[in-house]
Amino acid sequence: MDLQLKGKSVIVTGGASNIGREIVLGFAAEGANITIGDIDSQQADEVSKEALERGASSVQVAKTDVTDLAQVERLFTKAAESYGKIDVLVNNVGWDKLMYFTETTPEFWQRIIQVNYVGVLNCTHAALKLMIPARQGAIISISSDASRQGEPREAVYGGTKAAVNSFMKTIAKENGRYGIRCNVVCPGVTVPETAQEVGGSSMWAQTGEMFTTEQFEKIAKALPLRKLGRPRDIAGAVAFLASPVAGHITGQVLSVSGGYSMIG
Ligand SMILES: NC(=O)c1ccc[n+]([C@@H]2O[C@H](COP(=O)([O-])OP(=O)(O)OC[C@H]3O[C@@H](n4cnc5c(N)ncnc54)[C@H](O)[C@@H]3O)[C@@H](O)[C@H]2O)c1
Repeated sequence: MDLQLKGKSVIVTGGASNIGREIVLGFAAEGANITIGDIDSQQADEVSKEALERGASSVQVAKTDVTDLAQVERLFTKAAESYGKIDVLVNNVGWDKLMYFTETTPEFWQRIIQVNYVGVLNCTHAALKLMIPARQGAIISISSDASRQGEPREAVYGGTKAAVNSFMKTIAKENGRYGIRCNVVCPGVTVPETAQEVGGSSMWAQTGEMFTTEQFEKIAKALPLRKLGRPRDIAGAVAFLASPVAGHITGQVLSVSGGYSMIG
């Protein structure tokens, strides 16, 4: 099936590592014009070379901290000036450190809220300013099954992701009249396959600090599909939701997590 993404102008935040990287490569294979907004411009440059090899029409990198609205506005200006429009925004940046709530500090809460929630507000605000006059667009935010299940050691993170789910539903309702669709993808544990797939600022740069090999095995065994999630699993769902093929889908929250969460 042709996803009709060829020549589309797509912004992927956090596109340098793991899930974001594979999202970029997914759009590349469809022939999109891609702008990667990431704090790690060095790793993003590597991904941009791979994306061109996979068939992207063109790729550019804008070093951006999504928590800073001025930097986010520069990212959107750069994409709009290069490609004349913004068709798709993927809010992919996210960050967490696994800790019980009682071990965390207000400084930690603030960082999680800024990166996972305020970053989405900043990018969505900048995107809508361009998409509303164009009367079209698709926004996909990467949330987490932690927002749906309640996950020990992810209390504040899960709360910010639940905020993202709710925010996106409201944005979908407010902007459907302009032809703008907004959806959410919730990964479960999604692990890079090689060390080359992540840069130094990725949560997975020291994978062993997140989970031990035994914990990975336990997680996989507990899932209905009996396997860990990989970044390409998420990329397929994102490309579908961004595509005109999904033209009547908006305000939805889709878990891509091997069956970890099944919401009726
Ligand atoms: N990997 C998982 O198991 C998993 C599970 C559920 C949800 N998620 C969500 O999926 C998304 C991607 O996760 P991942 O595992 O690929 O993350 P990752 O840590 O591997 O990569 C995140 C990317 O975002 C960039 N980044 C971090 N802070 C930034 C900022 N302030 N501004 C701009 N760029 C920034 C990093 O440089 C990196 O390239 C996140 O929203 C995460 O919460 C991941």
